Amino acid sequence: MDSILVRGNGPLNGRVPIAGAKNACLTLMPATLLSEEPLTLTNAPRLSDISTMSQLLESLGAEVTSMQDGKVLAMSSHDLTSHKADYEIVRKMRASNLVLGPMLARLGEAIVSLPGGCAIGARPMDLHIEGMEALGATVELKEGYLFAKAPANGLRGGVYNMRFASVGATENFVMAATLAKGTSVLKNAAREPEIVDLVACLRKMGAEIEGEGTPEITIQGVDRLHGATHEVVTDRIELGTYMLAPVIAGGEVECLGGRMSLVKAFCEKLDAAGVDVSETQNGLLVKRRANRLKAVDVVTEPFPGFPTDLQAQMMAALTTAEGVSVLEEKIFENRYMHAPELMRMGAQIDVHGGTATVTGVTSLKGAPVMATDLRASVSLILAGMAAEGETIVKRVYHLDRGYERVEEKLGRIGAHIERVQE
Ligand code: EPZ
Repeated sequence: MDSILVRGNGPLNGRVPIAGAKNACLTLMPATLLSEEPLTLTNAPRLSDISTMSQLLESLGAEVTSMQDGKVLAMSSHDLTSHKADYEIVRKMRASNLVLGPMLARLGEAIVSLPGGCAIGARPMDLHIEGMEALGATVELKEGYLFAKAPANGLRGGVYNMRFASVGATENFVMAATLAKGTSVLKNAAREPEIVDLVACLRKMGAEIEGEGTPEITIQGVDRLHGATHEVVTDRIELGTYMLAPVIAGGEVECLGGRMSLVKAFCEKLDAAGVDVSETQNGLLVKRRANRLKAVDVVTEPFPGFPTDLQAQMMAALTTAEGVSVLEEKIFENRYMHAPELMRMGAQIDVHGGTATVTGVTSLKGAPVMATDLRASVSLILAGMAAEGETIVKRVYHLDRGYERVEEKLGRIGAHIERVQE
């Protein structure tokens, strides 16, 4: 099991390339199931989650060819041989549930394992199920699997008013509705850039969709979708994560491929905390104005609000800010596992339910810490870059799910960071 060893050191300087978005790629890949023709993705990130999704698609009979060192994924779902997403794969990655909508639309049936809980929460699928039922499907839960079936003559258009703007449930509904007969409307749809990117790809495949990025998406079903080639949108969570490197350790870093529109709410918080962010021709240039941040309050919300996936990283930055910051995690019920680990490094954090109160200290001390989930693990690395002494982050397999070659990217801008086999 690998660990990452990071030593606090001086300011960082240079440029970091931001990869394609994991959470866009994980919904774009299942879209291949909607067509018999090839779908090719470029700018794909090199992550273990992407390999897991490839395995899942191959278990259904799809072909996935990874090229150009993993940056291009050529997929074909001409001959599907199964409609079952097995527990062994789904339990490793919740996003496996994104084959539900496309399989139902293409094959008329789908058997998908419930993902089971994960470190950050119960992660139910009731909204996914309601969305499929709104399109005429019947969904039964048996032995931990969802058995979904479309009507004999296929899914039909329907209206679904979602009680919460779920990202995954939006993606499953939109993908399934592209081949449903008639018009479908999703109300209170999630508005994340990854959904806008999915719709852009589906439109290239011949789908008729309007309203992506707004709370109401309308889909006119078509008989079939054709192949396409699509470039995966920049990863706004990796972007926000690397923007925090110079914020925490000092210096000036340009995040290549970053655009302000992807991280607007995040940048507003950084500005309030005393960080300058400017849009260059190639990305976003980040530099903190003074040696210490000012404390700010953060509430996580669906896009365009502050992203829950940047909460842990922001908390790491606020541990040494001047003053008291109050963070409210409104999306997941248990997303503060990084707090006790940051406290091992000297942070002062008080967690009560969904609220974490961070009292800024002047400096952190390196310590052995444990990664618990994808975003918590990277927040510990960020903290380690500003801490006195050495920090060793264990169980970094979490990290490799969502950050490609993190020690390479941070090392390139001057961080003292290395991967050690334990
Ligand atoms: C996506 O997960 C992302 N994953 C998550 O990123 C991200 O944190 C999340 O959206 C919120 O932005 C991918 O895109 C692959 P949700 P998803 O459905 O779709 C509840 C990362 O670190 N809910 O918007 O699973 C759920 O329990 C990951 O990259 C229901 O109650 O998120 C949660 O509390 C972590 N019933 C909230 O909604 C449902 O049927 C948000 O879930 C579905 C969700």
